[in-house]
Amino acid sequence: MQYPRHAAVLAGVGGWLPPRVVDNHELSQRLDTSDEWIRTRTGIRQRHIAAPGESTVDMAVRAGGRAIRSAGMTEVDALVLATATPDQVCPGSAPQVASGLGLGGIFALDVNAVCSGFVYALATAAGLIATGVAGRVLVIGSDTFSTLVHPDDRSTVPIFGDGAGAVVLRAGEPDEPGALGPFDLHSEGELADLLVVPAGGSKQRTSADPHDYFLSMQGTRVFRLANARMAESTRAVLDQAGLSVHEVDRFVGHQANVRILQAVAKQLGLPPERLVVNIERTGNTSAASIPLALADACCDGSLRSGHLVVLSAFGAGLTWGSTVLRWPDIKLSE
Ligand code: UT7
Repeated sequence: MQYPRHAAVLAGVGGWLPPRVVDNHELSQRLDTSDEWIRTRTGIRQRHIAAPGESTVDMAVRAGGRAIRSAGMTEVDALVLATATPDQVCPGSAPQVASGLGLGGIFALDVNAVCSGFVYALATAAGLIATGVAGRVLVIGSDTFSTLVHPDDRSTVPIFGDGAGAVVLRAGEPDEPGALGPFDLHSEGELADLLVVPAGGSKQRTSADPHDYFLSMQGTRVFRLANARMAESTRAVLDQAGLSVHEVDRFVGHQANVRILQAVAKQLGLPPERLVVNIERTGNTSAASIPLALADACCDGSLRSGHLVVLSAFGAGLTWGSTVLRWPDIKLSE
């Protein structure tokens, strides 16, 4: 069978953050932490937290609608939702997002690669386009990690926030602005325990210890691995594209910790002003972090048409990966 060969071209972007803002001072009133510790160790000043009952699907619908309108479209053929916090363990949440957008009936699939989920979902969507399965794909990263961190755990609560970000990809030519790729994607399942919710899945359905239903993170090991893998992956994707790091105008890395982004830039020899950083106001929003950073940078003018942009992520699984694109002329929409 002859498949049509199309590039996936970025055509629209949108983000959505729940209205409630929790700053470091508010957290330090109920946890043994301080604004100073959180700011200096992570770069985070505040995070947005979903209201009770406000879910991953709700946020995804908001961000997805904005991305579709930003692309000047009213519909898409397929939806890929990156999330590790679906509304229910079963079924996946993507079909409910499609219905919420008035797009019931389309291909709708969840991808769970946690904080790398958005880059993995972009690759999945690019495959749908390359094989002719879909011509327009909505890719959303949406996570509600406030439901996954134990409220008393000072090692995770200050770091994570809730939110959703989305892009629309359309079939196009590999040499036009917005064309995605190549991709560099990896995993290392032997290290799953470094960032894990032990109970609730098929391996350990229930547990007597309530903490087992919440995220446990070996932060320092994850920190070191994130530094190394994001730098390696960025070099690999640039090599594949025949580009050098000096040509990169904007590095949009997963917003887990500003010190990770700075360390990756240092290893790559990338000037720090080329980093896109919005973690101070969002915290780590997992799969939503890269598209939210894109929407923010597009909005404040730091990401402009013609910029060479690297997207790079690292997360639980472990998973990591990168891709590259020339930023197209994008208009944001409400
Ligand atoms: O999103 C995907 C993956 N996630 C990440 O990439 C997260 C990666 N990890 C990190 O960002 C960092 O490891 C953290 C921000 C989580 C922690 O920073 P760290 O520099 O690795 O700190 P640490 O865990 O080594 O702790 C240093 C000290 C410890 O005290 P002692 O033993 O030195 O007395 C901790 O008990 O800081 C203490 N500490 C805190 N103090 C105040 C840990 N958490 C807190 C806190 N407030 N919230």
